[in-house]
Amino acid sequence: MKKQTIVILSGAGVSAESGLSTYRDSNGLWKQHAWQDLASPEGWRKNPQAVLEFYNERRALAWQAQPNAAHRAIAALEQAYDVVVVTQNVDALHERGGSTQVIHLHGELAYARGTSPARRRRLLEDRPIALGDLCEDGTQLRPDIVWFGEDVPLIADAAEEVRRADRILVVGTSLSVYPAASLVGYAPRHAVKALVSLEVEGLPHGYRFLRGKATEMVPALVEQWLQEAR
Ligand code: APR
Repeated sequence: MKKQTIVILSGAGVSAESGLSTYRDSNGLWKQHAWQDLASPEGWRKNPQAVLEFYNERRALAWQAQPNAAHRAIAALEQAYDVVVVTQNVDALHERGGSTQVIHLHGELAYARGTSPARRRRLLEDRPIALGDLCEDGTQLRPDIVWFGEDVPLIADAAEEVRRADRILVVGTSLSVYPAASLVGYAPRHAVKALVSLEVEGLPHGYRFLRGKATEMVPALVEQWLQEAR
């Protein structure tokens, strides 16, 4: 019998208990910094050094972090389902927790790219980028992160996955950034829909809200979904 398909739509809250900052919680990154200065093409033009330092620090922290019980439970779903993780996160904790199909809508800290449209990527792992580090095409290397106002190249692929899903689990996102947030609306009417978060503003239509920490709520829901697949 064909396996059902699950799409996970995750945000910073799924990595919070691995020690990585979210963006909009009280101690979030965009409460400590202005995203315009550090996550926009204008900020890059004005002060590339500040942008490089911001991402160099986050790359090192993300490299040290460990996947948590929520990442591992999401990976465990692959025992009985076809699972695609569509994440807004730029850490690699879903992969390191065992997930094998991960779409990074907003890029990845472990990679750099040139500033030309060619978008040739370079694997950095946890190494920093310095001013003067050039891509093969001779342009300054920049974080391979999608900044505010930039295109999200993988959004169409992600929407296609959501359209085909039998179950959708949204985890740890405020659904406040588009086009990522629009994905919740592509779910088929018949799909099982759940949302795990500490809080939610504007629960999407048809989604069951499971209030609580990802490391508690996700393993419990995964256990239930694995039972249902047996
Ligand atoms: N367990 C479950 N949910 C949590 C936890 C936790 N331990 N900690 C925080 N959350 C929830 C918060 O309640 C909030 O709803 O996770 C969400 C985090 O929201 P944001 O900080 O806005 O992060 P996210 O939704 O991923 O941001 C989206 O904004 O700045 C851009 O590109 C950046 O990808 C990012 C995008």
